Order: sequence, then structure tokens, then C-alpha cells
Amino acid sequence: MLPVDLDTIRLFLHVLAATVWVGGQITLAALVPALRLTGADVPKAAANAFNRVAWPAFALLVATGIWNVVAIGSVGASYQRTLWLKYALVAASGLTAWLHARADSRGRLAVFGALTGATALGALFVGLMLAG
Ligand code: HEM
Repeated sequence: MLPVDLDTIRLFLHVLAATVWVGGQITLAALVPALRLTGADVPKAAANAFNRVAWPAFALLVATGIWNVVAIGSVGASYQRTLWLKYALVAASGLTAWLHARADSRGRLAVFGALTGATALGALFVGLMLAG
């Protein structure tokens, strides 16, 4: 069997947090129509419950992301540029998720919801480019 080392733990925690942040958003969005059928306030209650795991997951992504950067050490210019793209996507995903949670109209809810989902997917994709 292959050994389990610190790199395995580092990537396990990073990917675990990514599954919650990205997969949770997709799952919640898929459930909203069914939740609406059970009551107008139910999607909001479900979103609040999701927020209680999503933000700790986001904090874990940033912490393990910094750990990744430290563990990788010196990198070439194209890796560095890809990393900057990832920082921008992560910042945009966090900011638009925060704006989505505070939106006071259906339009803002939809725009910031779509933006946080799209930028989270972008960060996931660029993360795999970095790992490749
Ligand atoms: C929305 C937030 C994020 C998502 C969805 C995400 C997702 C991922 C994924 C799926 C991987 C591939 C892991 C693998 O299979 O090897 C990865 C790798 C990586 N991520 Fe993230 N990440 C996020 C935030 C961050 C942050 C904030 C940083 C830096 C501060 C970061 C730095 C890295 C680095 C350097 C790698 C390469 C790790 C390696 O090759 O050992 N990530 N990310």
C-alpha cells in the first residue's frame, strides 16, 4: 500500500473543504425548488443551515491553501500566474457568497448566487490545474 504522509493529510483537508464549499452550493441550488414546495421560508432556513458549514469550510480552504503554497515552495512564472488567478477566483467566490447571503432583492440574490457558484467552480478547476 502507498504510505500516508503529511501531504496526504494536507490535500485531504483541502479537497474535503472544497467539496463542502463547491458541492454544497450546487446541492443546495438543486434542492431549492423542492424546498419551496414545503414552505416559502424553508429555502432560507436551509441556506442558513448550509452557511454554518460553508464558512468554516471556506476558512479551512484558505488555511490549507496557504499550507499548499508553503509546501510547494518556489515555483515557475506560469505556475505563479495560475496561482494569482486562483486567488482572484477564491476572493470573488467569498465576496459574492457574502453579498448573496445579504441580498435584499430577488435580482441581487440571483446575480450573487450565480457569481459565487461560477467563481467557486473556477477555483476548483484552477486548483486541479495547480495539482496537475
Ligand atoms: C474556493 C476555494 C478553493 C477551492 C475550491 C480549491 C480547490 C482545490 C483543488 C480541488 C485542488 C487540487 C487538490 C489535489 O487533488 O491535489 C487544489 C490545489 C491547490 N490549491 Fe486550492 N482551492 C481553493 C482555495 C485555495 C486557496 C485560498 C489557496 C492558496 C492560498 C489554494 C492553493 C492551492 C494550491 C497551491 C494547490 C496545489 C496543491 C498541490 O499540488 O500540492 N487553494 N485546490
